[in-house]
Amino acid sequence: MDIAAAVGAERLREIMSELLDRSTAVVKRYGGTLSQFTGDGIMAVFGAPITLEDHAVRACLAALGVQEEAKRLAVGVQERDGLDLWLRVGLNSGRVIAGEIGSGPFGYTAVGGQVGMAQRMESVAPPGGVMLSASTARLVDGAAALGEAELVQIKGADEPVPAHRLLGMGDRHRGVGRVESNLVGRRWEMSAVEGLLQRAVDGHGAVVGVVGLPGIGKSRLVREVAAMARDRDVEVFTAFCESHTSQVPFHAVARLVRAATGVEGLDAVTARVQVRARVPDADAEDLALVDDLLGIADPEVSLPRIDPDARRRRLTALVNASSLARETPALYIIEDAHWIDEISESMLTEFLMVIPQTPSLVLVTYRPEYHGALTQMAGAQTVALAPLSDAEIAALVFELLGPDPSVGALGQTIADRAAGNPFFAEEMVRELAERGVLRGERGTYISTAEAAEVNVPATLHATIAARIDRLDPKAKRTLSAAAVIGSRFGLDLLTALGVEPVVGDQVAAQLIDQVGFTRQPEYVFHHPLIRTVAYESQLKSDRADLHRRLAAAIEAREPESADQNAALIAEHLEAAGDGHAAYGWHMRAAKWATNRDIAAARLSWERAEKIADALPAEDPNRAAMRIAPRTMLCGIAWRVHVSVAGDHFDELRELCTAAGDKASLAIGMAGLVIDHAFQDRVREASQLASEAMGLAESIGDATLTVGLSFPLVYAKIESGEWCDVLLWSQRVIELADGDPSKGDFIVGSPLALAFTNRGLAQYFLGRHGWRDDLRHGLAMARSADPMSYATVVAYVYDAGIPFGVLRPDDGVVREIEDALRVAERSGDDLAVSNARGTLGMALAHRQNAGERDRGLTLLADVSDAFLGRGHNLAELPMINVYLARERARHGDREGAIPLLRALVDHLFREGQLLAWGIPATGVLVQTLLERGADDDVAEAEAAIERLAAAPTDEGLVLRDIWLLRLRALLAKAHGDEASYCDYRDGYREMATSLDFEGHMEWAEAMP
Ligand SMILES: Nc1ncnc2c1ncn2[C@@H]1O[C@H](COP(=O)(O)OP(=O)(O)OP(=O)(O)O)[C@@H](O)[C@H]1O
Ligand SMILES: [Mg+2]
Repeated sequence: MDIAAAVGAERLREIMSELLDRSTAVVKRYGGTLSQFTGDGIMAVFGAPITLEDHAVRACLAALGVQEEAKRLAVGVQERDGLDLWLRVGLNSGRVIAGEIGSGPFGYTAVGGQVGMAQRMESVAPPGGVMLSASTARLVDGAAALGEAELVQIKGADEPVPAHRLLGMGDRHRGVGRVESNLVGRRWEMSAVEGLLQRAVDGHGAVVGVVGLPGIGKSRLVREVAAMARDRDVEVFTAFCESHTSQVPFHAVARLVRAATGVEGLDAVTARVQVRARVPDADAEDLALVDDLLGIADPEVSLPRIDPDARRRRLTALVNASSLARETPALYIIEDAHWIDEISESMLTEFLMVIPQTPSLVLVTYRPEYHGALTQMAGAQTVALAPLSDAEIAALVFELLGPDPSVGALGQTIADRAAGNPFFAEEMVRELAERGVLRGERGTYISTAEAAEVNVPATLHATIAARIDRLDPKAKRTLSAAAVIGSRFGLDLLTALGVEPVVGDQVAAQLIDQVGFTRQPEYVFHHPLIRTVAYESQLKSDRADLHRRLAAAIEAREPESADQNAALIAEHLEAAGDGHAAYGWHMRAAKWATNRDIAAARLSWERAEKIADALPAEDPNRAAMRIAPRTMLCGIAWRVHVSVAGDHFDELRELCTAAGDKASLAIGMAGLVIDHAFQDRVREASQLASEAMGLAESIGDATLTVGLSFPLVYAKIESGEWCDVLLWSQRVIELADGDPSKGDFIVGSPLALAFTNRGLAQYFLGRHGWRDDLRHGLAMARSADPMSYATVVAYVYDAGIPFGVLRPDDGVVREIEDALRVAERSGDDLAVSNARGTLGMALAHRQNAGERDRGLTLLADVSDAFLGRGHNLAELPMINVYLARERARHGDREGAIPLLRALVDHLFREGQLLAWGIPATGVLVQTLLERGADDDVAEAEAAIERLAAAPTDEGLVLRDIWLLRLRALLAKAHGDEASYCDYRDGYREMATSLDFEGHMEWAEAMP
């Protein structure tokens, strides 16, 4: 003991007594008794004088707690005295003789050989470590993380004895002291899952759904599998879904990722280090997204401003990449998927797709009412748990009750009533024991009453309710409040609710289990049904009161995370019946989520909408509150690929009309316009765009008009109404008055788009100035945001090249590639698709076959993306035209022509003949003439005439030039050389005079 020499006796005493105080507190916390001060150490006993079933686990927890305290104290000692303070702890388990020996504070002690063994363990423990003897190690197996057995030489023994380092405590969710019956039955299920686990370990992972009624044994089965997995060194990660978070976006997925990255319980800084250690090569922005998801974000680092879809995609990609990279096997458990939130469900579905290629097994438990996406994973297996058989349930009841003849008949009643549900059987036994009908201990009960006289509750719910009713009022109140918090709760939050927490009785009765053993212990409900019953059996008004206080407590506890907790707070306020307050939090949650996940934002707006609708008619804010979420829901519908056409929008219109709120209506309309166009309802889009434009103009707010122009003009382009495009773009250019970011609430630079669109309209209508406008738009967009840039580049070239106005020369291809890079960096899905489509279209028009192939691949990908996500559908025919053209070029004219015919017909029907219908007709005609049968020539002629006949307000020179070209080709097919030459020369002349580069090139190429 050189501390004494170094610091002097006085200071040593001070240090020791501090250490003693702190250790005493820890030991007491875990139910141990301090028994001896040994001069330079202490001795504590667990399991005496009161028998504790889990004494070894408690001792381990206390040992770790004491080490933690010692380390904290050591920091002070190091600073003040310059000394390293280290403590050793040894544990042993066995029979001791314990009792009062002498008097004083350490009157109670234990003696015997086992005590000596504990001292030996202490002496071989490393400084700062905890050493367990073999007997303790055996008792805590499964609950604790232990080092390999080490053979250590100890005083008084000839042979070295085995000992284990205690590294930490395991599975935190399982309550200490949970006593389980032996597993009965389920042999087939276990061996099926075992087989799948083995295959997973061998590299062929699987997803398994475990489905069954409440209490039937789903969680039990996965616990058994988890134990089996741990035996095989498979890491196990668990996430629980809960009934009260089923509306909280990201809840379940965040839990699972937290478990898998091991950040649960760590502070934010440590957690971030941990995450980075797990995915060492990840991009900094991606990591920021993960931090944000896990709620461990660095407040100094701002979240990358990316589109919500892209956020989700990048998170998924990152998680998938890291699970694909995982080489050691893992078991993931998702419990109670019937309570999963929508966002987590969709993200998990994507995560689970790669599982078959990883060494991982995923078990998803759910009740039969759940039919969500997780039940429909391709290739997933399902294990349906049926009720236990009569013999099995009888065996279980026998194990619970024991062999005493007095319980025989009662056992039969219980088994009959349980109807194969093990949980019901267990609860009935507990209830009877608490009622005093059964005396003694589990497995050795004696019945005090005749079976015939015993009244057994008819349902599982009633059984649990009866048990809760028997608690003393304080314990009952604690349980009720806890049920409002959730399946897992801490005492601090209970206190914050104004409830004096009393938990001892409920732990003893196995209504709840302790799971956290830090300074702030945590508890979980022993079973989800107990929480349900505890929740449902309170008076509604009491429950509402608790919810209200809980919302306030969550907000007060972490004011800096209020945005992040907004959805949860809203949930509690709603349950409290405080609609007004809940509404505000839902709207806040939506705003927070808009930048993170638009689908989550949508959910929150929908909740707000519902609350507002339920307000009493005389509420003065009701109209405004009903309008606000609906406006946003309609405005962003196209981003979540939801249809708002019909009732949804009509309702907004009605509300806005009644309230005289034109601005909201206009925003909602703009969303619906894009929605229509994206869903290939171009006529409706165009009509509504006119209405919305009129409305915006009547409001007379320049910013609103400018901001709405992008969706509205988009519809007019799709429908080929070029006069409107020209007029409206012109108007926006005037109103924006040179300010590139005016009205930037839908796109970053409406003005850049307006220049581009005016350029398009000008060349369609044969006006001058289009080249300058396009150039201007491109330059302005280049210095605006990525989405604006990608969109402008798409408008310029995706139209210009196929219409024959521009040529896809090297510089153009470079410019598009550049826009694609910018879009990819921004991670905005829509921008990426647009830029890829534009590049594909440009390359499809190149001479080089290799480039054309690449272009076609890009177009096919983009077409899949549009179809898969259900947007930009009005542009799909155009892409398909070029895919078909390439097919014809590769010799499959027979296959290509019917496709082209159908596409042009479709464009005609949908009112797009004077937009994409022009080049589409061109490709059809050319392909028909190349095949050249009599019918083909006639059909080509009809197609040309149909295009020529389409009515317009003003002459469309773009159509005229195409007609010249096509008529030239037709004349050639008829063998009418003179007409051919006339048309060809006219075509050449017109192309040159209009400065349409594409047509000039095509015209030159004509013989
Ligand atoms: N085959 C079995 N043998 C012995 N005990 C069992 C068996 N199956 C379940 N039990 C016990 O029955 C109780 C209820 O089982 P469990 O919690 O697994 O139900 P569950 O299906 O997950 O219900 P819930 O849908 O409510 O989550 C547990 O205490 C469990 O240990
Ligand atoms: Mg369960």
